[in-house]
Amino acid sequence: MTQDSVVIFDTTLRDGEQSPGATMTHAEKLEIAEMLDDMGVDIIEAGFPIASEGDFNAVSEISKRSRNSVICGLARANLKDIDRCAEAIQHASQPRIHTFIGTSPLHRAIPNLTKDEMAERIHTTVTHARNLCDNVQWSPMDATRTEYDYLCRTIEIAINAGATTINIPDTVGYTAPKESADLIAQLILDIPRSNEVIFATHCHNDLGMATANSLAAVSAGARQIECTINGLGERAGNTALEEVVMALKVRNDIFPYQTRVDSTKIMAISRRVATVSGFSVQFNKAIVGKNAFAHESGIHQDGMLKNAKTFEIMRPEDVGLSETNLVMGKHSGRAALRSKLKDLGIVLADNQLNDVFIRFKSLADIKKEVFDDDLIALVGEDAGDNQSYKLGLKSLHVVCGTEGPQQANLELKIDNESHFVTATGDGPVDATFNAVKELFPHTAKLQLYQVHAVTEGTDAQATVTVRMEEDGKIATGQSADTDTVVASAKAYINALNRLIIRREKSAPNEDFKSVSYKDAG
Ligand code: KIV
Ligand code: ZN
Repeated sequence: MTQDSVVIFDTTLRDGEQSPGATMTHAEKLEIAEMLDDMGVDIIEAGFPIASEGDFNAVSEISKRSRNSVICGLARANLKDIDRCAEAIQHASQPRIHTFIGTSPLHRAIPNLTKDEMAERIHTTVTHARNLCDNVQWSPMDATRTEYDYLCRTIEIAINAGATTINIPDTVGYTAPKESADLIAQLILDIPRSNEVIFATHCHNDLGMATANSLAAVSAGARQIECTINGLGERAGNTALEEVVMALKVRNDIFPYQTRVDSTKIMAISRRVATVSGFSVQFNKAIVGKNAFAHESGIHQDGMLKNAKTFEIMRPEDVGLSETNLVMGKHSGRAALRSKLKDLGIVLADNQLNDVFIRFKSLADIKKEVFDDDLIALVGEDAGDNQSYKLGLKSLHVVCGTEGPQQANLELKIDNESHFVTATGDGPVDATFNAVKELFPHTAKLQLYQVHAVTEGTDAQATVTVRMEEDGKIATGQSADTDTVVASAKAYINALNRLIIRREKSAPNEDFKSVSYKDAG
């Protein structure tokens, strides 16, 4: 007997990217979409087309390139949003429009609609969406805090207007597993024609229960889970894709449902999303954390050596962690690098491989042994040598000592012209950032400065993440180097470059959160 299937709906590029600071570039969005498609994700929510030109272009391009996945765009409950969404997904071989409105008392108060007016709005907008696309998903935002009778009424209207999937969002991460299951089961029981649609679960993780709530909903009859890679998303994030996929796989005895996701591709996409979003994965994060498969205590190691199943409920290779940690060195060639990267789930085009190879060689000159994590950092780093970038680091000398202030002598490329400055600061990083600011004055505020040692040892590379904010626009820069101050300078400059690009490309309606709900209709 074949098992029931659960549809995996990934919203890393929409709900995940919406998280302040997690903004991705156009090229990064295309890359992540390709990885999602490749790993067997059924539906990719690629963005919110009305939000900005950038979002529209990303959804449109992802639609054109899609192979197996359904491509979905988000739209509020108004005709303009839905038209723009339909336009963005029109080239997808399998398009979907996802339209939503907040149905709970608090959310109804925002557009100031009565229950009847909102019901009318749902009928009009879902009908309009269905006239443009055969595949329509409807969401009552904040469903878990909506009066039950009104929730049923709105869902019935959406189904009668042609919605094919009904999503039940726990927008503020308020529900708990039993409640989540009871709600889905009751809705399926009470709503006429509920058997003609798919019920979806969309959970946020504010109380740390998103995965449990999603699985409970599936046990009660939901057949679509909405999730993001690494649980990326606003506040505490969304349900993590890797967690639900592995829970369904490892505990198939109690969750007898299958997904199309190839779990061996999980690690590669997790690393890439962490890099491009600038949100690193906590070490003890389930499935994808650095320590998820590490067994360091004596008892554990002993048990593991005798029988891996003693302490391991899944194998590292099931999520794409290669067992070997073959060390690469300065004599390793391009073919060895390509094959090593392939083992790590990273496939690069020839020109990308060339760039990484050059960086690998200079790293191998400094560092005797280049480990897997070093290579992952090298691939992930934005080398800052993109010709279209306004700023570039030419050279940096820092003078440190027990007596401050520290001093940075910086040579910075601005529009291909070199500029020099000496600046001081409270520590070498502060001095360096001050030097950049002297040569390129800006009003951007530093929101995050984070340093991670990639491997052990004093010659380890440091990966530095810098997040900057200017006029509500946020950009993240990352860089890796064996010199922490150089990595910091490059990450800071990369963040500024990305802010400059965002500034140049920004459309008038750049931030959908600034578009009032009153505009709907
Ligand atoms: O959390 C939420 O309610 C959402 C909706 C737009 C579906 O993301
Ligand atoms: Zn959400």
